Amino acid sequence: MTKSITLTLKVWRQQDPQSRGRLETYEARDISTDMSFLEMLDVVNEQLTLEGREPIAFDHDCREGICGTCGAVVNGRPHGPEKGTTLCQLHMRHFSDGDTIVIEPWRARAFALIKDLAVDRGALDRLIRAGGYISANTGGAPDGNNILVPQETAELAMDAAACIGCGACVAACPNASAMLFVGAKVSHLALLPQGHPEAAARATAMVREMDRLGFGNCGNERECEAECPKEIKITNIARLNREFLKARFFSSVR
Ligand code: SF4
Ligand code: FES
Repeated sequence: MTKSITLTLKVWRQQDPQSRGRLETYEARDISTDMSFLEMLDVVNEQLTLEGREPIAFDHDCREGICGTCGAVVNGRPHGPEKGTTLCQLHMRHFSDGDTIVIEPWRARAFALIKDLAVDRGALDRLIRAGGYISANTGGAPDGNNILVPQETAELAMDAAACIGCGACVAACPNASAMLFVGAKVSHLALLPQGHPEAAARATAMVREMDRLGFGNCGNERECEAECPKEIKITNIARLNREFLKARFFSSVR
């Protein structure tokens, strides 16, 4: 049943990377429990704008849980309290009248803050550029049925491909590691025949780039797995480690 709730928000406000940030308190009144978390922030921003104050900057795009653009830490949890849910798909029915909600940006050395809740996740794009692709040279696309892939392998590859590149795994990890993200990308391609020719170069280049960009190492805390909105499994990190070691010991890639 739709209800209307009133919340106290403590939101991280920071004008730019150089300024000092602080938590500011706002009251979110008459919030429908049918709203998404981002719609709730829209209502607060409308109010702030009417009062002549600066609205809260936050990232969003599809609002359908598929683009990976949204994201904030809600009461200490990336994307909020619901398992397997992006911030844009988190609904206000999961909160109660009178709740206090603390909203902060992703915090990681590799994700520079832009403003308020918006951070620069370009480092994930640079990881993809390092090797998260296959080279398709000239010629028509081969018929998919010519390359047989066992059903189980295809399922594992598609599960890994569900990663939307939101960066919640990095925000959740005490070491700000991007291993779950890189593990998902490397696994997706290493499992499929089309990804095999560049597998060694890919695993080597992506791991090196991850270190260069300032991401930490995996400490097996599994917080990434717990907070990933697409429920990417850490078995993908194990596969990344295997692919990396295989490349070091059994290939000519240096
Ligand atoms: S692995 Fe999960 S948390 Fe990390 S970027 Fe991909 S979808 Fe987001
Ligand atoms: S806005 Fe696209 S996943 Fe949330």
